[in-house]
Amino acid sequence: MPERPYVIDEMISAKAIAARIETLSREIAAAFADTDKLVVVGLLRGSFIFIADLVRELDMAIEVDFIEASSYGDGMQSSREVRILKDLRGAIEGRDVLVVEDIVDTGHTLNHVMRLLRSRKPARLKSIALLDKPSRREVDFSADWTGFEIPDAFVVGYGIDYAQRNRNLPHIGKVRFVDPA
Ligand code: IMP
Repeated sequence: MPERPYVIDEMISAKAIAARIETLSREIAAAFADTDKLVVVGLLRGSFIFIADLVRELDMAIEVDFIEASSYGDGMQSSREVRILKDLRGAIEGRDVLVVEDIVDTGHTLNHVMRLLRSRKPARLKSIALLDKPSRREVDFSADWTGFEIPDAFVVGYGIDYAQRNRNLPHIGKVRFVDPA
């Protein structure tokens, strides 16, 4: 299918993201102050920039791991059925774990991943999402920390894609289609 033409309107600036991450990292460091070595798990691919910025603000011992779940493919619709495409490298039993996600939309993806990881008996399991679209939720789930609540819009940038494009935008932008009348 040919791509519909669109423009991207800035929604959250790179500066605002950086400031929010600074605050969040302080809260996370306080919450895990008694942890020997925190396992920070990035949900691929959308969280790769967020996790990179977040861990560099965390002044504590950490380990980084990644997990990949199926998501939108190349479209704009959530698949609802979540599959694990790439699992963690390390065991998390008895460990303190923070899962890092780019955006919670219907909630299916992070809910599924958290249930899976919880079944592996970590000591503590928490989650953080940079963005949250509460109005789109289909399951009863919310991350322990959220960067920004946003309205029901399709967003890109800062790691988040539309059809595998725009992940390298430094800010979060909203996709606006500009179909000819
Ligand atoms: P959920 O399972 O519906 O909560 O969707 C979560 C996943 O869908 C995210 O990790 C993103 O990969 C993708 N997603 C949700 N909303 C957007 C969006 O606005 N732009 C790009 N990807 C999105």
